Amino acid sequence: MLKIPIDNLPKTEIVGLLGYPVEHSFSPLMHNAAFKELDLNYLYLLFEVLPKNLKAAIDGIRGLNLKGVNLTIPHKEKVIPYLDEISKEAELIGAVNTIKNDDGKLIGYNTDGKGFVKSLLENDFYPQDKNVLVIGAGGAARAVSFQLGLEGVNGLYITNRTFEKAEVLVKEIDTKLHLKRIESVPLEEQKLYNIISKIDLIVDTTPIGMHPNHKVPPVINPEMLHQELTVVDLVYNPVETTLLKAARKAGAKVISGLGMLIHQGAIAFEIWTGKTAPTEIMKKEFEKYS
Ligand SMILES: NC(=O)c1ccc[n+]([C@@H]2O[C@H](COP(=O)([O-])OP(=O)(O)OC[C@H]3O[C@@H](n4cnc5c(N)ncnc54)[C@H](OP(=O)(O)O)[C@@H]3O)[C@@H](O)[C@H]2O)c1
Repeated sequence: MLKIPIDNLPKTEIVGLLGYPVEHSFSPLMHNAAFKELDLNYLYLLFEVLPKNLKAAIDGIRGLNLKGVNLTIPHKEKVIPYLDEISKEAELIGAVNTIKNDDGKLIGYNTDGKGFVKSLLENDFYPQDKNVLVIGAGGAARAVSFQLGLEGVNGLYITNRTFEKAEVLVKEIDTKLHLKRIESVPLEEQKLYNIISKIDLIVDTTPIGMHPNHKVPPVINPEMLHQELTVVDLVYNPVETTLLKAARKAGAKVISGLGMLIHQGAIAFEIWTGKTAPTEIMKKEFEKYS
């Protein structure tokens, strides 16, 4: 008779990424290395989910009793109506990148903004009472700008190629968070110069400088950069973009997008497992492939 050691059968907890496309994601490598390091019986998989199948995929989290998922383009906003509850940050940002399955109750979080702020803090930059210029007004800019608002920045300036999008974002943040100072700034040299000369932090949230277009010059003129600034580029491939190279040359402090990538993943890891994520292992995994 076949004797199956039922008591010893491992129950693997499944998590993963829902997106379209998903194949270039670093998340499975980062999370599976972290699970292995902590000896957790979890597995992170990629799920290619067509937009028309999003609801079925979300029902599948309950149906298959997955522990949770991450979401990426194009599902981060559209998923919200299918969830039971969402966090304060996810509601403000209007996007969910992490879901936890709490005994069939699906709770949505947004770990992008918090992951971004963690990457500032680990570089000894404390956003409270600081003045910040955000370049871009897309999904990443929304997460970063709302989180900076929640952290109590003094002044928030947003510039964007399509100026109307910066105006809409500024209006929305102003209505929801009542910051001391918030302005949309046209992407024009003199106007940007006036802002950059008096602020503490620049965050470039555009894809400019990303591989394979890594030689494209930055959105802002590098001559405006100075040594009182901290400059963050959310692009992490390459880790040092043309903007960060120019900022370093100008004597500014630089922070790459890798920190945000690791920390947004680490926060999701902690939401699913309740354990502190081994961020150094996650970073090392990135270095193996870069
Ligand atoms: N490090 C991390 O963990 C992390 C997390 C999230 C995102 N990111 C990175 O952030 C970048 C943006 O992602 P997203 O989701 O915010 O994208 P998105 O929603 O498409 O927004 C892109 C933004 O960049 C601007 N932009 C695009 N091409 C431009 C150009 N040639 N010149 C000037 N501005 C340009 C767009 O301006 P318009 O409004 O005029 O189109 C828009 O404001 C990507 O590179 C992504 O990989 C990194």
